[in-house]
Amino acid sequence: MTERKPLISGNWKMHHNHFQAIQMVQSLSYQLNNDDYSYCDVSVHPPFTDLRSIQTVLESDNIPISLGAQHCHEQEKGAFTGEVSTGMLEKLNVKLVIVGHSERREIFNETDSQVNAKIKAIFKHGMTPILCVGETIDERDAGDAETKIKNQLIEGLQGIGKDRVGKMVIAYEPIWAIGTGATATPADAQEMCAHVRNCILEISGKSPSESIRIQYGGSVKPVNIADLMMQNDIDGALVGGAALEAESFARLVQYRLQ
Ligand code: 13P
Repeated sequence: MTERKPLISGNWKMHHNHFQAIQMVQSLSYQLNNDDYSYCDVSVHPPFTDLRSIQTVLESDNIPISLGAQHCHEQEKGAFTGEVSTGMLEKLNVKLVIVGHSERREIFNETDSQVNAKIKAIFKHGMTPILCVGETIDERDAGDAETKIKNQLIEGLQGIGKDRVGKMVIAYEPIWAIGTGATATPADAQEMCAHVRNCILEISGKSPSESIRIQYGGSVKPVNIADLMMQNDIDGALVGGAALEAESFARLVQYRLQ
């Protein structure tokens, strides 16, 4: 079986200005040690305005936390007021870019074909996409969750070579669990993450399905992360609220000590 190093990612959404972000990352790195980093990869995804400041903190102190973005535009450059390209992110040494988060899909009407174009743009600049998929409560209650996720994967991954798919991260984030405190049970999260892996097997083949990392996201907290991380097909967590404060984020990264 392929060993997959866990990845714990903090998606700060629209929280923390650059002063708060610097303070948070310094405090987080103070609480983490080499054992933590050898056990799992860690990434922070601050707002765009914080990226340069956090890059400087991470690089000047050799902190092994990967810098991540929450979003990108799919075009190289052009008249797209307010948008940021993947080339710009690469220059800031961003390593991971979240794409297709349900908030982007629902509030900003991002489509699967845009998600697909963004994934290609992220790879073009040598970064790793974290592709988010997940169902609403209505879709779940109607028994449509698995089909919804399969379609999001098929469309999102169209034309992406299997070697690249194998290096990606998929975040399974049930929309009903995001910011609600209603975490999926470890068994439910495992079932859906196994489904994601099975879809990758069908779409891209065995090797990518074994190496791709699948995160669970949706009300992950220090008290529930250990049980989620024990599941076979869960290789990490994409965390919102509980990743905003350094102490809480450090406890998430140190889930193995619980
Ligand atoms: P919460 O952890 O706040 O539920 O957010 C999850 C999420 O959307 C991470 O991308």
